[in-house]
Amino acid sequence: MHVGIFGGTFDPFHSGHLALIRSALAAGRLDHLVVIPSGSPPHKDARRMTPAAHRYFMAATAVAGEPGVSVSDIEMVREGPTYTIDTLRALRGRFGPDATLYLVVGADIVFDIRSWRFPDQVFAECVLYLAMRPGFRRADVEARAQELREAFGARVELFDADTPDVSATAIREALRTGTDLHGRLPAAVSTYIRKHALYPAKDPLDAVSDATMDFLAGCERRMFLQLGPGRMRHSLCTMSETVRLGMRHGVDPDQAAVAGLLHDCAKSLPNEVEQEFARRVEPPLDAMTLDSHELLHAHLCALIAKETYGVDDPGILRAIRCHTTGCADMGLLDEVLFLADKIEPTRNYPSVEALRAAAENDLDGAVIACLAATETFLRDKDKHPHPDSAAARRSLEARKESRP
Ligand SMILES: [Fe+2]
Ligand SMILES: [Fe+2]
Repeated sequence: MHVGIFGGTFDPFHSGHLALIRSALAAGRLDHLVVIPSGSPPHKDARRMTPAAHRYFMAATAVAGEPGVSVSDIEMVREGPTYTIDTLRALRGRFGPDATLYLVVGADIVFDIRSWRFPDQVFAECVLYLAMRPGFRRADVEARAQELREAFGARVELFDADTPDVSATAIREALRTGTDLHGRLPAAVSTYIRKHALYPAKDPLDAVSDATMDFLAGCERRMFLQLGPGRMRHSLCTMSETVRLGMRHGVDPDQAAVAGLLHDCAKSLPNEVEQEFARRVEPPLDAMTLDSHELLHAHLCALIAKETYGVDDPGILRAIRCHTTGCADMGLLDEVLFLADKIEPTRNYPSVEALRAAAENDLDGAVIACLAATETFLRDKDKHPHPDSAAARRSLEARKESRP
């Protein structure tokens, strides 16, 4: 079996990537091609990169329906720096000793082999499969390929890739400034970007410290393995929205980012595990909470954020604990997380725009409106809100009235 491997940051995955994949397959050598988005690098540049899970989902949606193509999370779930040789060896384990691995790269790479780690080991593990894009002189590439064959015993092959000249940097810039993209993105990626409000003119995460961004990248890696895709996307969108809305109301961006990302970190636990954890929550939970997955998950997420993810900031843990019901005397972070969870960009229900507008200038009023809507919804079903919600509403209304 001949397996192509195509790695990149894919920030975002664009039409040039898609054209390259199609050319590689059309050349007839490959039986299958694996797209491998890189993880979040553990250094300062990471903060400028879109979270790895979003980049993975963009690649996945772009190649869905492409015959013979799959997307792998192998690099994004690996801790520490990623080297091509590690990825090749992992794929060797997956596809077996008889598979021939083809590392699909732009032909320009042959002029830059010296910057590679362990080139001899990489060449031993795979065929270097060079995409000859318009603008490269075949004779130059061939000459360099021959040098590599002689120096490393490298296997090097070329294929013609008639790909448009598309730059991810230019696309990010166009997205941030609202400039026309002229079809440089696959339609599915455009939709994904719009739905999740990626590449905003001003990225709220720019305000988060380097240390917290590194911490969040580790959390994200772990959550990606545990949560379903929908919940992962919701968590990332809630993180950005908690920071954005929080900064508008004077909340610390680092606290907001951690609370936003982790607020649903344990929402995918199997029932029995959930009940097991529920018995350990202090002070003990009331019967109504124990009986409801929706109410229970907020307490368990606070517990797991502390025990598994190592969060010890009581303000963050409290905000996570009360993100579903609210609680008496909610603080700024509590209110911001409570609202961000309900208004992040993927949320879509009739009153969401009104709630988004209210949250901009009147946090207390927006939380009250949200609690009131939930109360009406529950009463229509002959149910009662949790006492914490009633307490939240009372204290917020009192606070509002006491203001001059
Ligand atoms: Fe939740
Ligand atoms: Fe949530």
